[in-house]
Amino acid sequence: MALFNIKVNGTLHKVDAEPDTPLLWILRDNLDLTGTKFGCGVAQCGACTVHIEGNAVRACTLPVSIIGDKEVTTIEGLSKNGDHPVQKAWIEHDVPQCGYCQAGQIMSAASLLSQNPDPTDAEIRRAMNGNICRCGTYIRINRAIKTAAKEM
Ligand code: FES
Ligand code: FES
Repeated sequence: MALFNIKVNGTLHKVDAEPDTPLLWILRDNLDLTGTKFGCGVAQCGACTVHIEGNAVRACTLPVSIIGDKEVTTIEGLSKNGDHPVQKAWIEHDVPQCGYCQAGQIMSAASLLSQNPDPTDAEIRRAMNGNICRCGTYIRINRAIKTAAKEM
């Protein structure tokens, strides 16, 4: 075990863990931030998507030892009151069905719009390609991203 200082949602946390422990385990088991979901565990479904320095990454395959002093943001830290433009658009378009994939979807969409505030359909498809929704909410996701883009 080793001691790591990681900054999550603006707060510095000390965690005692094996260096190869995936960030997802640290978030859910050590920090009790259960908004980030476990799906496949092999970087294929996007359920575990969080931001590192604003970029969407898969927390299930990211060892805690490589995070260093980079800022981690989870769905709990995306906005103070759930009022990020992407979250508001998700409500407006009633996007979630079962909801399981949606934290990851929102984190990918928020990262996309922070880097490309007016994406084309093809750019949205490319950015969201790694986020799987077994309920098939893709059309509503696409509409919500376009609505959020108008507010960014
Ligand atoms: S749980 Fe990480 S990508 Fe599926
Ligand atoms: S809303 Fe059910 S998996 Fe996406």
